[in-house]
Amino acid sequence: TTSPIRDQLQRPIRDLRISVTDRCNFRCTYCMPKELFGDDYPFMPKHELLTFEEMSRVARLFASLGVKKIRLTGGEPLLRRDLPELLEKLLRIDGIEDMGLTTNGLLLKQYAQSLFDKGLRRVNVSLDALDPELFGHMNGRGIQPEVILDNIDFAHRLGFKVKVNMVVQKGMNDHEILPMAKYFKDKGITLCFIEFMDVGNDNEWSFNRVVTKKETYERLSAIYDLEPLEEHYFGEVAKRYRYKGTNAEVGFITSVSESFCSTCTRARLSSDGKFYTCLFAAQGFDLRDMIRSGATDEELLQAIASVWEKRSDRYSDERTEQTARNRKKKNMSYMGG
Ligand code: GTP
Ligand code: 5AD
Ligand code: SF4
Ligand code: SF4
Repeated sequence: TTSPIRDQLQRPIRDLRISVTDRCNFRCTYCMPKELFGDDYPFMPKHELLTFEEMSRVARLFASLGVKKIRLTGGEPLLRRDLPELLEKLLRIDGIEDMGLTTNGLLLKQYAQSLFDKGLRRVNVSLDALDPELFGHMNGRGIQPEVILDNIDFAHRLGFKVKVNMVVQKGMNDHEILPMAKYFKDKGITLCFIEFMDVGNDNEWSFNRVVTKKETYERLSAIYDLEPLEEHYFGEVAKRYRYKGTNAEVGFITSVSESFCSTCTRARLSSDGKFYTCLFAAQGFDLRDMIRSGATDEELLQAIASVWEKRSDRYSDERTEQTARNRKKKNMSYMGG
């Protein structure tokens, strides 16, 4: 293995988030609004997607530069055929200590056992509301929360460490903060409140639709006693708390109100093999093109290292209504959360 690398702000590279498909079986209003992602939406044709061999090759190179943690995302990752086989390949890579999957949970029951058998232990499931009508509206497909809740229970019983992600939008689902907290506290499942972000160009984001950690925390602490927890590792995304006297935890992802760019150790690989150094980057580095034109491991490694070493992204530190509106960004379904 080569020596660890640092970017322009002295940040090492620790995590690789791989988007395995740009498709999704949901149409969340804030991510792939159904008016814009209709039946004729030009998703990526199969030959443009990295193969599992290509992905594991790239992941192995990233691991040799310091990546220890891989997260599979999408789109909806469980829509990628034979995903458990990819997991198996990735888990065999030297240096990979942690592997997670971020899913909307709809297909979780179908795949949970085989994912578990291949060695996956952690899944993050998105769920924005318990109210059937609201959740059906927010996921754009009328999917009922019971289905996802049932799949969460199923995965939990199998032995997965499950974390639930709730994107909170003012005037949309903020009245669900307490019901969600109570439900998952009672289940002993960690709930993460995510501040609504201006990802992509389609979600009509503005500051006044964000519910900050402070507001959410105040609502929770009016009812529950919360104690802060230590970081699990350098640059952990969520700020975590425990409900006193229990083992149940709650987390906050404060990308808007308290951005965490200064410790951002995350690289992203889109499903078509572009390497992005920020969720809000306008452009990626085309690794697929290099791979398919016959680049050697050494050449790929050089390229990856040099992109990282030039990196100076800190979008969330600098966010304004202006950048949110005017900056050209990639869709999250394509780049991966
Ligand atoms: P674990 O800590 O491994 O459980 O996962 P995670 O919370 O890092 O990943 P997850 O896919 O569950 O993402 C939760 C939220 O954090 C999503 O809204 C992501 O878009 C957001 N997020 C993750 N990494 C970053 C980042 O580097 N920058 C920003 N702005 N948001 C991020
Ligand atoms: N802001 C914050 N989080 C978002 N996610 C998708 N779009 C946004 C957004 N605009 C979340 C999903 C999923 C995770 C990968 O990112 O709900 O939990
Ligand atoms: Fe919703 Fe995730 Fe699908 Fe986007 S990728 S539409 S956030 S389920
Ligand atoms: Fe990292 Fe970009 Fe997110 Fe900042 S905005 S934490 S640099 S991915």
